Order: sequence, then structure tokens, then C-alpha cells
Amino acid sequence: MRRKLAAGNWKMNGLSPDLAEVETLLKTFKNPSVDLLLCPPATLLHRMAHLTADGAISVGGQDCHTATSGAHTGDISAEMLRDAGATAVILGHSERRTDHEEDSEQVRAKARAAHAVDLTAIICIGESLAQREAANTLDIIAGQLAASLPDIATAENLVIAYEPIWAIGTGKVPTLAQIGEVHDFIRTRLERRFGAGVGRGTRILYGGSVKPDNAAQIFRVPSVDGALVGGASLKAVDFSPIIKALEDSV
Ligand code: PGA
Repeated sequence: MRRKLAAGNWKMNGLSPDLAEVETLLKTFKNPSVDLLLCPPATLLHRMAHLTADGAISVGGQDCHTATSGAHTGDISAEMLRDAGATAVILGHSERRTDHEEDSEQVRAKARAAHAVDLTAIICIGESLAQREAANTLDIIAGQLAASLPDIATAENLVIAYEPIWAIGTGKVPTLAQIGEVHDFIRTRLERRFGAGVGRGTRILYGGSVKPDNAAQIFRVPSVDGALVGGASLKAVDFSPIIKALEDSV
């Protein structure tokens, strides 16, 4: 029912020569059985969208402003992302929440801005290590979900990425039981808030140190609909086996 999604978050990485990685992925995955998305830095977005226009890879932004346009030096609007060829945008990544003090209310406003121009909002949530050790994970997730999600969402324009902060870029990954528990909890909350159709249809990705050597087991967790991949999405040689593992899990 839910088509799986492998999404790559390049973060603040990538220069012109790195577009060759995308060409390799396009050649490797001509007709994939899962959705593929790459979120490069804004400087590469338009060129990557051009490169992938006839291929199986979609492109997305990593953040957007709440406003459509105006005096916001250095910011980028959802409409600009759409204009550059994006179909999705990552919102509320923990690095945005930390580096730019973004709170969940801002993330919700950004999601509304994204939906207004038909971008899929990939909303990131996740607990810190201290919160997990204090057994507060589900409370934190519930709070972030309640405040970060817009009031109206569809299974097409919303994706949730569960990314424990302590797993991002650290090589540490929760147990499969821990991932399953949080994903099931998120789905129950989505069903309760948006109804069974949206709740069951919305994709929930796992993110945080997904690598070629752990992807297959993570994708065996039934409630995992794919991954948001940082470091291992930068090189086709790393991202390809992750995509293949996701295809094998279908
Ligand atoms: P990582 O990043 O795969 O490098 O841990 C994931 C993310 O931050 O989306």
C-alpha cells in the first residue's frame, strides 16, 4: 500500500563534480520498485532536477521559509524550491532545530508553506540521548508530532522521518525493537489525528546512521517504509546497496 522511499540528505555537502554520483544512480536505477529522492544543497538543486528530469530520482530541498517571498536574506521559500524543480522538502531536521533554534511551531508553519505549493513535507522528529535514557522517548515524539504537523495533511504530501538525534552521524543505531516501537507509536498518532486513511498511508522513514551493512535489517522492521540517509547518500557506491536493500524488502 505504501510505496517505500529511499531519501538522501546531502546536508551542506556537494559541489558540481558530485553530480556525477547522481548520474551513476540514474544508470543503476532506471526502473526502481521504490521511490528515490535526493535533497542536495540549494546551490545544486536546479541542476540536479534538470539531470534527473527523465529519470527515476526526484529532488527536494533541505529547509524552506514560512513566507513566499520578502526581506529574508539568505533564506529560501517553498515556491523557490518548487521553481527549481523540487517536489519535496525536509523540515525540522534536528540540525535545523539545533543550529537555527527552530521549534516545532515554526516547522508546522513551514509545512503549511510547503503544502501551499504542492511540496511533500518530510518532517523530522526524534529524541536526544538524555531523553531516551530518561525513558521519555514516546512523550517527546508525541509532543513533536502534535506541534510540528500541519492540521491538514494527506498521505501524499506528508512523510515522517524518525531520526533519533543520538543516531545521526554517530554510527549508533537503535535496536530494531526500539525502531519498531517508535514507528508503531507514530502511526497510531497519525491515525488518531488524521483518520485511518492518512494514518495508514503516510510513510514513516527511519534515519540515523543507515549504512549498506545495516540497511537490510532495518528495512525488515515492518513499520519502516524507507530511510532518510545522510552520509551514506553522498556516494553512489554507498547509497546504491541501501536502495537495493529497500527494493529487496518490498
Ligand atoms: P546520517 O544522517 O545518515 O549521516 O546519520 C541522517 C540524517 O541526518 O538525515
